[in-house]
Amino acid sequence: MNRNIVAGNWKMNLRLQEGLDLAHILASELGPADFAQAQVILGAPYIHLPGVVEAVQGIAGLHVAAQNIHQEDRGAYTGEISAEMLQSLGCGYAIIGHSERRQYFGETNALLFTKVQKALEYGIKPIYCLGETLEERENGTTFSVVDRQLREGVFGLNAEQFGSVVIAYEPIWAIGTGKTATPEQAQEVHKFLRGQVAQHFGDDAATQVTLLYGGSVKPKNAPELFACPDIDGGLVGGASLKVEDFLAIIRSF
Ligand code: PGA
Repeated sequence: MNRNIVAGNWKMNLRLQEGLDLAHILASELGPADFAQAQVILGAPYIHLPGVVEAVQGIAGLHVAAQNIHQEDRGAYTGEISAEMLQSLGCGYAIIGHSERRQYFGETNALLFTKVQKALEYGIKPIYCLGETLEERENGTTFSVVDRQLREGVFGLNAEQFGSVVIAYEPIWAIGTGKTATPEQAQEVHKFLRGQVAQHFGDDAATQVTLLYGGSVKPKNAPELFACPDIDGGLVGGASLKVEDFLAIIRSF
């Protein structure tokens, strides 16, 4: 069974045409040999999504993610995008609980659990993000922080629902800072997370769940990160905006 995924997170970058060009180039560059190694997901801004979905159409192995969803089905929530809308577009994944959403938009574990549930209700696979701050790492609470994010964000699901969830461990101090967790630091947390999944949902769920590492993943450090037994790929921010870098990361397994 191949758990590997490389997901790009474009964040709030790229003009519409730049994003569509990036998606089209990746769609033509990536082939069956790449997808035999890893599934690839493009996390595009909302307005890019229709064009990106079109660009990847018919390419098994290349998928599209939104970067957030709202937790309600529909209604008077000006400026928000629902899981129902994303489903109607054919968008298969949603990044949920990115640390930037937690930090700048006050998203809590409890709120994120409702978003995860809503995504699943509409057949959208959540990429649920968690990770500790520098302060939490330094005062030795990394494991309890990520454990809580896991328990409150996704352990309330049933086993079948959890089977559609991807987890991304992103230490906040490594995001956009150029400071990557060492493979040992990342593997240590990934192993812990897989162990918690095994305890809660059983060994099969733990064997099947995809655990991504995120935080300054680059072509240079991807091979040694992806070689770790419990790291199944990456959630890539800055480097996913550059075709050459993103392709090199995808080809790092
Ligand atoms: P980065 O971002 O690769 O630019 O550090 C990762 C992320 O925030 O998903």
